Amino acid sequence: MSLRPIVIHPDPRLKKVCDPVADLTDELLRLADDMLETMYDAPGVGLAAPQVGVLTRLIVADAVKDPNAEPKPTVMFNPVVVRASDETNVYEEGCLSIPDQYAEVTRPAEVRVAWIDRAGNPQEADFAGLWATVLQHEIDHLNGKLFIDYLSPMKRQMMTRKSQKYKRERARA
Ligand code: NI
Repeated sequence: MSLRPIVIHPDPRLKKVCDPVADLTDELLRLADDMLETMYDAPGVGLAAPQVGVLTRLIVADAVKDPNAEPKPTVMFNPVVVRASDETNVYEEGCLSIPDQYAEVTRPAEVRVAWIDRAGNPQEADFAGLWATVLQHEIDHLNGKLFIDYLSPMKRQMMTRKSQKYKRERARA
């Protein structure tokens, strides 16, 4: 496994609608492992393939917050929200592609997600709490949508400028 460099906003690759996965090739399974390693290393609770520059419908997540609890590395190919609750939840969200910036986002509190697991089997399950938020955030990435797209244009512009500055400084370092 190896760490993959994370694409920082603004970047055209973060605005693209990603392609569905047709076959679970060894290359894709390796990418999923690399993404999990990159996510844990960051550290983060979720990562989508476009964030490592691959425009494919693949996300990884582990929203287990308790450090004493068993980790739950989760890999989802072609994930789709098939049902969302009317009830909403507000979380302070961040994104590994927009470092060190956070904002409150309102989303459905519970979602049912369908996906293909790493063995190629279709799965479907209900998610609540942080899991629901993380999965919706990551699935948005596959449609070229960032959490800052839910904010006011002014706030979005401010966060984009900060991220751009971060990127310039990182490039110089
Ligand atoms: Ni993100």
